[in-house]
Amino acid sequence: MSPLLEVQGLAKHFPVKRGAFGFVSGHVRAVDGVDFHLGAGETLAIVGESGCGKSTVGRLVLRLLEPTAGSVRFDGEDLLVLSESGMRARRQRMQVIFQDPYASLNPRMTVGAMLGEPLMLHGLATSEATRRARVGELLELVGLRPEHARRYPHEFSGGQRQRLAIARALAVEPQLIVADEPVSALDVSIQAQVINLMRSLQDRFGMAYIFISHDLAVVKHIADRIAVMYLGKIVETATTDELFRNPRHPYTRALLSAVPLPDPTAARERALLEGDIPSAMNPPAGCRFHTRCRFVRESCRVDVPALADDGSGHATACPWWPEFPPARSLTEGSGQDQDRIRLARLQAAFVTTQTEAS
Ligand SMILES: Nc1ncnc2c1ncn2[C@@H]1O[C@H](COP(=O)(O)OP(=O)(O)O)[C@@H](O)[C@H]1O
Ligand code: SF4
Ligand SMILES: [Mg+2]
Repeated sequence: MSPLLEVQGLAKHFPVKRGAFGFVSGHVRAVDGVDFHLGAGETLAIVGESGCGKSTVGRLVLRLLEPTAGSVRFDGEDLLVLSESGMRARRQRMQVIFQDPYASLNPRMTVGAMLGEPLMLHGLATSEATRRARVGELLELVGLRPEHARRYPHEFSGGQRQRLAIARALAVEPQLIVADEPVSALDVSIQAQVINLMRSLQDRFGMAYIFISHDLAVVKHIADRIAVMYLGKIVETATTDELFRNPRHPYTRALLSAVPLPDPTAARERALLEGDIPSAMNPPAGCRFHTRCRFVRESCRVDVPALADDGSGHATACPWWPEFPPARSLTEGSGQDQDRIRLARLQAAFVTTQTEAS
């Protein structure tokens, strides 16, 4: 069976214009050759520091941006050759949720009008009565109540507003939802509730998610697979369990061990990640991570590492990983590790909370 989504060689180079005449003085290589696939009902997380190109990938997949190169196949169809009207029809099957639900919800529309609009637009509820019933049903699906349809977005909390954004995405019964940092603006306990909700809706309706986050701890609970991005490229991809158990790429390992540890080598790995991400206008030659990599060697400054799959679905863009000390030493004795405390809180919140709204 072919995957729901297949992305190959995807690139987006934004021109940078300078001066009064707007001459193009260079390009931001926001996304620079990205390949991945996503099965129906599956969740792929895209993770990496701010500016590495995650949102651009999301927008390219939805064709809200035109790529510089590459292909996006959705349900067997090449999206990039579709006309504007052809694309409009496909958009119903691909929805998006953003970080800031307040910015993406019209403040002057009642919740009922906002959820009713896509139903009308796509002919999913033709009479007033069926529309009202469907809006009530959508609100209940996301843990709100039918009478909330009369309210305006400002009358809801941040977590509830994100539930409304999810309800709006669900209204058109999509096969794919791109969620771009959907919980990053929320308090930790609310994050867990929204992620739980997304998971249960996926179990029920079987849509696929691309879940974008700068936070590995967040995606652990929702992703089947994770792709780690650095400066416009995927540096490692594996199933979630495998990536947390056996991180191979020095960048993934550094992301997973962000705090001082008793082990001095681990502390050094962390220290090296403190450097800034180089400019995407002028990315380092060879391996893009070489300016921050604790394992860097001469050839890394010249040779571009391929994202090589070991045959199990675990792919790493670093040929040297088998020579590195086991990553386990990075996580031992890390009682003071802030990320792990966060992760523990997040996990505890998963067990104790079900819905926020009542
Ligand atoms: N419309 C744009 N024009 C120019 N540069 C852009 C544009 N959108 C994003 N970028 C640049 O592309 C890079 C990747 O951005 P983005 O995809 O938003 O990263 P992330 O979502 O991982 O934080 C950044 O360097 C950003 O400044
Ligand atoms: S290729 Fe070299 S610089 Fe890049 S991650 Fe591997 S060891 Fe580090
Ligand atoms: Mg972003």
